[in-house]
Amino acid sequence: MCGIIGYIGNKQVIPVILNGLSNLEYRGYDSAGIAYLENSNINIYKAQGKLQNLKNKTENITANNSLNIGIGHIRWATHGVPNETNAHPHTSCFNKIALVHNGIIENYKELKDDLVKKGYNIQSQTDTEIIVHLIEEKLKEMPDKTTAIRNTLNDLDGAYALGIVFADEPETFFAARKSAPLIVGIGEGENFIASDVPATLEYTKKVIYLEDNEIAKLTKDNVEIFNKKNEKIEKKVELIPWEPVAIDKMGYKHFMLKEIHEQPNVVRQTLSDKLHSSEELVQLNEVKLNEEDLKKLERIQIIACGSSLHAAMVGKYIIEELVEIPVDVEASSEYIYKKNITGKNSLTIGISQSGETADTLTAIRQSKEKGSHALIITNRVDSTMAREADSLLPINAGIEVSVAATKSYTAQLLALYLLALNLAEIKKSVSNEKLTILKEELLKTPQQIEIMLSNKKAIQKCARKYYDTRDFIYIARGINFPAALEGALKLKEISYINATGYPAGELKHGPIAMLDNTIPVLSVLVPGTVYEKVLSNSEESKARDANIIAVTSSEDEKLESIFDYIIRIPQTDELISPIITTVPLQLLAYYIAEFLGKDVDQPRNLAKSVTVE
Ligand code: AGP
Repeated sequence: MCGIIGYIGNKQVIPVILNGLSNLEYRGYDSAGIAYLENSNINIYKAQGKLQNLKNKTENITANNSLNIGIGHIRWATHGVPNETNAHPHTSCFNKIALVHNGIIENYKELKDDLVKKGYNIQSQTDTEIIVHLIEEKLKEMPDKTTAIRNTLNDLDGAYALGIVFADEPETFFAARKSAPLIVGIGEGENFIASDVPATLEYTKKVIYLEDNEIAKLTKDNVEIFNKKNEKIEKKVELIPWEPVAIDKMGYKHFMLKEIHEQPNVVRQTLSDKLHSSEELVQLNEVKLNEEDLKKLERIQIIACGSSLHAAMVGKYIIEELVEIPVDVEASSEYIYKKNITGKNSLTIGISQSGETADTLTAIRQSKEKGSHALIITNRVDSTMAREADSLLPINAGIEVSVAATKSYTAQLLALYLLALNLAEIKKSVSNEKLTILKEELLKTPQQIEIMLSNKKAIQKCARKYYDTRDFIYIARGINFPAALEGALKLKEISYINATGYPAGELKHGPIAMLDNTIPVLSVLVPGTVYEKVLSNSEESKARDANIIAVTSSEDEKLESIFDYIIRIPQTDELISPIITTVPLQLLAYYIAEFLGKDVDQPRNLAKSVTVE
């Protein structure tokens, strides 16, 4: 939820920290700060709001040391309102220690009470400030900094990725992690820490992934890592396989619009890697499940959050339809607090674009402890979840900058379709003819998405007609019901309109009471098993004076006389249609938010990666 970065080396430290924070802005953006050493002092600058406000304060400052140490932070508030006082870094009583933190300290209240009793004057409302005073207190009994940090961490319950600088340590700084991602970047005569690879990739491709309970001690030429017992350990230095991505809008007004338009190529690329033709088998070598495993498989559970949860719901439909194994779908945040009956003859699929969502990570760990095989579908092969997977199915959608998931959602769907086809091939649960038809339909999806993107004027017109509504209802049935949920989430999270997705059949069990001419009802209306039902639910809504919109591939002429607005989509097999139906809903949400002048790529209160439970 927050991003931290740290640097030691001969470069000017402020530009390195600000540049790193720019590449971490997707993790939160309600305030930012920087601390750097100069002549045995710690200089601190903080700013409320977007990172640009901190840049305005600091980008012309040069530190006049030859060797520079600095830490930086970009915040998504967990404790304490987003203001300058609560912005990180937080410092000890006499500014001799500065610290940045990503995570949540769950026992901070009792720790704070204890510090106040000892006379500490706590300046902020944050849990983070408690950590720096604890270190300050421990140093009184144990002057060795690694020991003092370790003893502090032993008192903390919760999650943390920390960067820590000491005014009296002009050649060393420290880092530590537990349940929040943190890497060490290994440079030439310089070293880094960061919450995520993009912050340091332009300086070095060599990284060490810190594991839980490890402390790092960094000088410009050396990095020491200590385990939970404070024993020095050797760690593997890994090479990041990709180039720094020019995170650039490429001429689009927002990253979201660019990423929506990248979907045809994302789908095309994945298909070219894993499904060469409708006559060939799906190539999913990453999935370590053979016929024997499948025979023993009693159930599959798919666990995720947000848009990834909606993708999971489509996965349930397609896997049960093709593989005939019961599939449970659970929101990670619900799964981790209920009785866990997962058994060893089960497959647990975790879906996470970031691979760092705390609830999903905890859920996967719990199911692995029960002996379940953990298959991770993620966009980040370098993430914690990917590194802990038994089977990994990367979606290779490329960096997704906009907080609203679009191309990653579609790529997750594709991965689930390919997995279902692969399992059905192994299990021989579907006829070859049907498999061929579905593969043919799947192979058409890139072009079909392109057709819809070329039709965006009609969607823009629809957005202009409905953008000033306060409430919005999305309905669908069957395999497209998750599309209604995903379309509503997209609208909610970037326009702040109260949009809700319902199973179309559920309207008459309560929600229909809300309908009048102020609430548009959008129906996802795909020819197939539930078409007539959704059509009649749409007409029931119209009978209550609601404006009704159809997203449909139907050529039925009577629709023109029924619906107030029709968004046309290409024909495809009903089972494959979720890959198509979501794209116009992404565009509709985008254009409505744009008309409303919202901050489309960085909506208020959100972050791209929710690394706290
Ligand atoms: C989707 O638009 C949101 N950004 C959010 O719901 C997101 O899907 C959710 O936080 C899960 O993130 P993950 O896929 O990285 O685990």
